Amino acid sequence: MQTIRYGGDYNPEQWPEETWREDVRLMREAGVNLVSLGVFNWGIIEPAPGEYDWSGLDEVIGLLHEGGIGVDLGTPTSSPPAWLRKAHPEIRLVDREGRTLAGGSRHGVCPSAPAYRDACASIVEQLAARYGGHPAVELWHVHNEYGWANVECYCEASTAAFQAWLAAKYGDVDRLNAAWGTAFWGLVYRSFDQIEAPAVAPPGVNPALQLDWKRFSNDEHIANYRLQREIIARRSKAPATTNFMIPNCEGMDYWRWAGEVDVVANNHYLIAEREDHQIELSMSADLTRAVAGGPWMIMEHSTSAVNWQPRNIAKTPGEMRRNSLAHVARGADGLMFFQWRASRAGAEKFHSAMVPHGGTDTQVWRDVAALGRDLERLSGVVGTDVAADVAMLWDWESWWALELEWRPSVDLKYRERVEAYYAALWRQHVTVDFAHPEADLSGYRLVVAPSSYVLTDAASKNLRGYVENGGHLVVSYFSGIVDEHDTVHPGAHPGALRETLGLWIEEFHPLREGEELGLDSASGAGIGGGAAGRIWSEHVRLDGARAVAHFAAGPDRGRPALTRHDLGRGTAWYAATALDGPTGLNDLLATAMEAAGVERPQGIPANVEVVRRGGHRFLINHTAQDVQVPGGGVDALDGTAYDGPVPVPAGGVVILADA
Ligand code: GAL
Repeated sequence: MQTIRYGGDYNPEQWPEETWREDVRLMREAGVNLVSLGVFNWGIIEPAPGEYDWSGLDEVIGLLHEGGIGVDLGTPTSSPPAWLRKAHPEIRLVDREGRTLAGGSRHGVCPSAPAYRDACASIVEQLAARYGGHPAVELWHVHNEYGWANVECYCEASTAAFQAWLAAKYGDVDRLNAAWGTAFWGLVYRSFDQIEAPAVAPPGVNPALQLDWKRFSNDEHIANYRLQREIIARRSKAPATTNFMIPNCEGMDYWRWAGEVDVVANNHYLIAEREDHQIELSMSADLTRAVAGGPWMIMEHSTSAVNWQPRNIAKTPGEMRRNSLAHVARGADGLMFFQWRASRAGAEKFHSAMVPHGGTDTQVWRDVAALGRDLERLSGVVGTDVAADVAMLWDWESWWALELEWRPSVDLKYRERVEAYYAALWRQHVTVDFAHPEADLSGYRLVVAPSSYVLTDAASKNLRGYVENGGHLVVSYFSGIVDEHDTVHPGAHPGALRETLGLWIEEFHPLREGEELGLDSASGAGIGGGAAGRIWSEHVRLDGARAVAHFAAGPDRGRPALTRHDLGRGTAWYAATALDGPTGLNDLLATAMEAAGVERPQGIPANVEVVRRGGHRFLINHTAQDVQVPGGGVDALDGTAYDGPVPVPAGGVVILADA
C-alpha cells in the first residue's frame, strides 16, 4: 500500500444500475481508492445451487476498475442464501439455550456444519476462479466479522467437532482429566465422546471445560477462514484478510488470528453514549496495532451514527475527522467506512454512510470528501510504526476466565481495569502498546498488567525476567492467580507473581457494592494519600516488597494497599484495590513512569491527544476550546510552519511533519 486506502463497503446490488456510474464519479470526487464489494451478495450471485449470475458483479468491478478504484472482494459466506438453509436445515445455529435460530438475517449458521463448509468452499472456488486474476482485485475480504452473532454453536455437529478437537489436543482422556481437574465433583470422563458442550446446565460447570470450549469455538472460525484463504491463494496473488472486532468481540482470540491474515483489518464503532468514547477508540487502535505487529487498516467505522445502539448519537462536527485521523495516528494505513451509500431498505437504513440519504449537499458528504483530500497528503505515514515506551498486557483468555461464574466478586471485570489503566495513561498523553503476557517485553520501560488473572508458567517467568533485567511492572489485584486451565497456581496467591511482587496474599476481602476505602500514604512515598479504593481489598503479606500506601479502613485497615518491590535491576508495583482518578491511579502510574524513565509530553492541555507516528506528530483536540500545543513543526496538510506553540482549533486535528 503506497497511499492510505480510503473507501467503504459498497453494496451496488441494493441500487439500480443507473446509480453505479454516479457512485464511481462520486468516489473519485472523494478520493476513494478501495471499496469492499460483495460482502453479502451470495443470494444474488448464486440464486440456486450451482447456478451463477455474475452480470452485476462483472459490470461493477469493470466500472470501478475503469475509475481507478481498487476492489476488496468479499466472500459472502456470512450471509448464506435461503436455499442453503432450506436444503440443509442442519447448518442452522443452535444457541446455548438449545434454540435453533431462524433465518431472515445473516450469520445464523454453525461454523462446524459440513454442508455449510462445503457450500463455502464451492462459492469461494467460483469467485476465485472468476476474479482471482482481475487487476482491480487488490484484497480479499474473507467472510465478515467471524463470530459476530455465531461465536458458539451447540448443535450435534459442534459437539462432535469439540470432542475431536479435544482428542487431538490431549491425545488421551486421562491427560484431559488431569488438566481439567475433573476429580472435583468426580466429573471424570472415560472417553472423549462422554464430553458435552457447555450449554445451559446447573451452576458450576467445570471452568476448564468452558475455557477449552471457547478456544475450540474460536478455532472453528479460524478453520473456516483458512479453508477459504487456501482456495483463494490457488487462484489469486492478492492478499487476504477478514475484519476483526477489536476489542468488542470477546469470543475471538485475535492473538491467534493475527498470523492468519495478510493485513490486519479492524471494525470499530464508537460506543456513542460514553462521554469519553475517544479513549476507547484509541485503545481499540492500539490493541489492533499490537495484534498486527505493525500497520493495519480500519475496515469499517462510521461517518456518523450507527443504527444498533440503544440511542444512536450522531457524531458532532469534526468528530468523524478526529476519529479517522486518530486511527491513522495509531497505525492505520487504510480508512474504510460502513458503508458507501445509505441503504433505503433492510435493517440498517438508519445507519450513517459516506453518501447519506440526503445526498451530497450534506455536511457528512463534505467531510468525507475533505478527509479524502487530507489522506492524499499523508502518504508519508504509510508503512510506518508508532513508538511506545509503555505496554499493557492483554489476553483474551484472562478475559474469558475472569468472567466465568463463581469468582470472589461479580465486580471483577476484565475490561473495567484495563480501561481504567488505559484511560489514566491516555489522560497523561502516553501512547501505549498492548502485548501478550508471553511476548518479548524487553523494549518497554514500563509494563502494566491490570487484569492478568490467567498467567501461564511461561508468562510468569517472562514477567519475572523482564523485571530482573531492569523492567518496571505495575500489577493490579487478582492477577497471576490461575494457569491456562483455571487451576490455582501452587501455594499462596498470586502464585504466578509472588516472587516478582515480593508478597503473598493471605485472604481476599472483596468490598460491598459501592463501598470505598480510603488509603494512607506511607511516609515519604508520596502516592496513595487521599486516594480511595473500590471493589477489592485483601490481606497482603510482604515478603521483600515494601508498602507505599496502606488501607485506612475496612477489613485490611493498616495493611498494605500499594507496594513496591525492587528486584534485580527493575521494580514491580502492586495495587491491592481498584484505584481511579487523579490521586490514585494517575499518581501510581506517574510515579512508576518517573521511576522507569518514561518520557511524557509536557504542557499538553487535557483531552488533547498527541501521538507520534513515522516522522509525524498528530495533535487531536477533543475539547470545545482552541488550544496551543508546545513545540513547532510544519503542518503536513497545509504547509504552515510553526516556530513556537501550535494552535489546534476546538475539535480540530493538526498533523505536524518533522522538519
Ligand atoms: C458491522 C458489520 C457491517 C454493518 C455494520 C453496521 O458489524 O460488519 O456489515 O452491519 O456493523 O455498524
